[in-house]
Amino acid sequence: MRIAAMGDLHVREHGDTYKDLFSEISQVADILVLTGDLTHLGKPREAEILAADLRSCSIPMVGVLGNHDYECGHVEEVTSILKDAGVHLLEGQAVEVDGVGFAGVKGFAGGFGRHMLGSFGEPAIKAMVAESVEETMRLENALRQVRSERAMVVLHYAPIVETVQGEPMEIYPFLGSSRLAETIDRFPVKAVVHGHAHRGTYQGRTPGGAPVYNVASHVEKPTGRPYALLEL
Ligand SMILES: [Fe+2]
Ligand SMILES: [Fe+2]
Repeated sequence: MRIAAMGDLHVREHGDTYKDLFSEISQVADILVLTGDLTHLGKPREAEILAADLRSCSIPMVGVLGNHDYECGHVEEVTSILKDAGVHLLEGQAVEVDGVGFAGVKGFAGGFGRHMLGSFGEPAIKAMVAESVEETMRLENALRQVRSERAMVVLHYAPIVETVQGEPMEIYPFLGSSRLAETIDRFPVKAVVHGHAHRGTYQGRTPGGAPVYNVASHVEKPTGRPYALLEL
């Protein structure tokens, strides 16, 4: 299966159209995977514009939302618009398409390795860590649903530090969490895609060896295009 993966479209009310890109992708791939920040401010109008552009996509679509899709507080409306447009929008579930299982969750911040934020001190810090742990548990539930031998994990936040390299070091802890990689490594995952780190690095690996790709549209990829092409 040829998978086109891309994130951080940041569709705006008066921005560029993705119609041509979606038709191009439909010619070169069997499925389109979207890794969040699909809209710029999470406005229903932005989701409608994207939904209209997605009519040019004639292959199956799987995706997760990103932090930007939450900004306006209309996440339920944005979700239903994109689902109506045919996107399998995953929030802790899995979907199987042509023998490949896609497990998807937005993920959350929290930092990496030994320097991950711990649950200590003020309630606000504990709430932040709890959210990070909860997203990890949602991912675990999604991965348990996968029956296929070929599984891809779809995230918005990064599960490893390698693919956020290129961003200012000061913001690394806001770009993802190693807790996601710890969960991924307990399952036979063939590949992981994420976005969010616009200035990050295309490729890395979890400590357990699963290949990780930062497919934010801004990141330079071997295709020379805004999307990555992966074979699974
Ligand atoms: Fe983004
Ligand atoms: Fe983001």
